[in-house]
Amino acid sequence: MAAILEVDHLVKKYGDFAAVKGVSFSVEEGEVFGLLGPNGAGKTQTISMLTSVIKPTAGTARIGGYDIVKNLTQVKKINGLVPQDLALYPTLSARANLDFFGRIYGLRGAQLKERVEDVLRVVALTDRADQVVDKYSGGMKRRVNIAAGLVHQPRLLFLDEPTVGVDPQSRNHIFESVLRLNRERGMSIVYTSHYMEEVELLCHRVAIMDQGCIVAMDTIQNLIAMLGGGVIHVGLERVDAALLAQLAALPAVKEAQLLPPPVAPPAAVGEEAKAKESPPIPAGPVVQIKAEHSQQAIVNVISFLNERAIALTSLQILEPNLESVFLHLTGKKLRE
Ligand SMILES: Nc1ncnc2c1ncn2[C@@H]1O[C@H](COP(=O)(O)OP(=O)(O)O)[C@@H](O)[C@H]1O
Ligand SMILES: [Mg+2]
Repeated sequence: MAAILEVDHLVKKYGDFAAVKGVSFSVEEGEVFGLLGPNGAGKTQTISMLTSVIKPTAGTARIGGYDIVKNLTQVKKINGLVPQDLALYPTLSARANLDFFGRIYGLRGAQLKERVEDVLRVVALTDRADQVVDKYSGGMKRRVNIAAGLVHQPRLLFLDEPTVGVDPQSRNHIFESVLRLNRERGMSIVYTSHYMEEVELLCHRVAIMDQGCIVAMDTIQNLIAMLGGGVIHVGLERVDAALLAQLAALPAVKEAQLLPPPVAPPAAVGEEAKAKESPPIPAGPVVQIKAEHSQQAIVNVISFLNERAIALTSLQILEPNLESVFLHLTGKKLRE
């Protein structure tokens, strides 16, 4: 596979403040590449440089082999941008908006009409296309915004946080469109988000950004494997310091510690009590076990407890995910 995007030490500074501190990555033709990071990480600034919205302070990037600054005309044909903020004419219909964006790209006549109908189908808005955009839900506006970025048939599409403020139904439509554009049309996609679930679902590879830097970059599987091991919660009928020490000393176990007792939620009253089902709270003590190898640790812990006739009251295996990778790398949660 050839790289459609090669980013080389890209920097964006405002006075002394560096919003992007020399990021480098490449995106292969046909790849969905995720930029995952909390608000303020530098995702939009990075995308804005790659799509010629702002100028890099330093560094270079090539798109389809063309320099993003020197070969602007060629780069603009390859790139499609769906910006984080909506850029639509509220008083025009979806179809008229897309017609307008198509004209900006030089499309006319039958070709323009065909492209507009095609992108309306991609975002599943054909039936509602003649309604004024102002009357649309937030999610539908988002989908028109996506269609606008597609009308000139880009080979590389940048989607900047496309699901923020979107209802679940439109969110699913957006996911489906992204997957279809990639699988059926071979479109390469750069997708930014601060929702790790989205990136896990859609992206082949992910760069994790924090404070203007890429702190890790790999497939999701490899990023998670980097953490090593896993975490297991074991509920027991009784625990003391000696038992904790014995558990911690078992092969494949790194650490064993007693979790603080859970706090009971305030009792719901009346109708609320009927509607709300709180998750069951484990009755006894729960030990958190950090494992080198989850599966081996579970086997060892259970046989140890069996030999001593200590009853297990619950067992929970906590799957490592991108959120835990991010926490591990930055000491922060993605959404704070
Ligand atoms: N025009 C600007 N002038 C100064 N700082 C800016 C400007 N635009 C963005 N920033 C800052 O750059 C950092 C990165 O912003 P941004 O790329 O929008 O983050 P993200 O998209 O990851 O949420 C933030 O600290 C933001 O406040
Ligand atoms: Mg942003």
